[in-house]
Amino acid sequence: MKILRTGAEMSAWSNGRLAAGESIALVPTMGFFHAGHLALMAAAKQRAAQVVVTLFVNPAQFGKNEDLDSYPRNFAGDCQLAVQEGVTVMFAPSPAEMYPPGFQSRVEVTKLSLPLCGADRPGHFAGVTTVVAKLFNIIKPQYAVFGEKDFQQLAIIRQMVKDLNWEIEIIGHPIVREADGLAMSSRNSYLSRADRQTALCLSRSLRLGRQLASRGKETPAEIVTSIKKNISAVASVDYVNIIQADTLADSSEINQESILALAVKVGQTRLIDNCRLLSSLTP
Ligand code: PAF
Repeated sequence: MKILRTGAEMSAWSNGRLAAGESIALVPTMGFFHAGHLALMAAAKQRAAQVVVTLFVNPAQFGKNEDLDSYPRNFAGDCQLAVQEGVTVMFAPSPAEMYPPGFQSRVEVTKLSLPLCGADRPGHFAGVTTVVAKLFNIIKPQYAVFGEKDFQQLAIIRQMVKDLNWEIEIIGHPIVREADGLAMSSRNSYLSRADRQTALCLSRSLRLGRQLASRGKETPAEIVTSIKKNISAVASVDYVNIIQADTLADSSEINQESILALAVKVGQTRLIDNCRLLSSLTP
């Protein structure tokens, strides 16, 4: 596996592979890999001859009081895992490489970035779309794979690709969970033993939501109220919403496109999770 540090090196490599008629699948990450990341790499490998993983803890998507400095990092361990997954290139630029002095552009998907995580984290999604746009331009992939845990990020990136006419197929990969239902996340490493148990309130809430939805008696607002009540007994709710998958607008009725989305603070750690409401009850 090649480790490349500059945009120029990365672009030159991509141009060579594309000139040779090969396809490239991209997996953008912030590192500290877990089985969820490895599943994205495996999905990328199924699509294209070359898999590029980017590892960049992107300062532009962290708010002032967020965890940029403490975000977990393990570059050597990540490289080992990426090699095992058959990744061809790890692109790991520095912040100065991505945002050199004088950098002043921003890519923003205006409407989809406002609700949910966008309301709690102003500017976050503009940071995501700006860095992902740069990665698309540098690497020129035909495919890019993102996890469905960050379903709002995925919807925003799909919109950006459509709006800006990139010929990139965006692939959403289902959430990978621990055996007890907790969605995998690099931020799970912040959880104390007690918080790790408390964090199960997220996947429990998804199960409750699906149970209530399959009964068909409660409105979306009533389901949200029940879930908020359950979570509030053990943790602090940032949001619980039932929304439509494509527009992210609140659902007035439960249908195949309804997603139950949660953001919850467990101790100091903010966790998100989601599911289609009319999907099966596991986990
Ligand atoms: O999902 C993430 O890890 C990040 O938001 C991404 C897409 C790598 C952009 O920094």
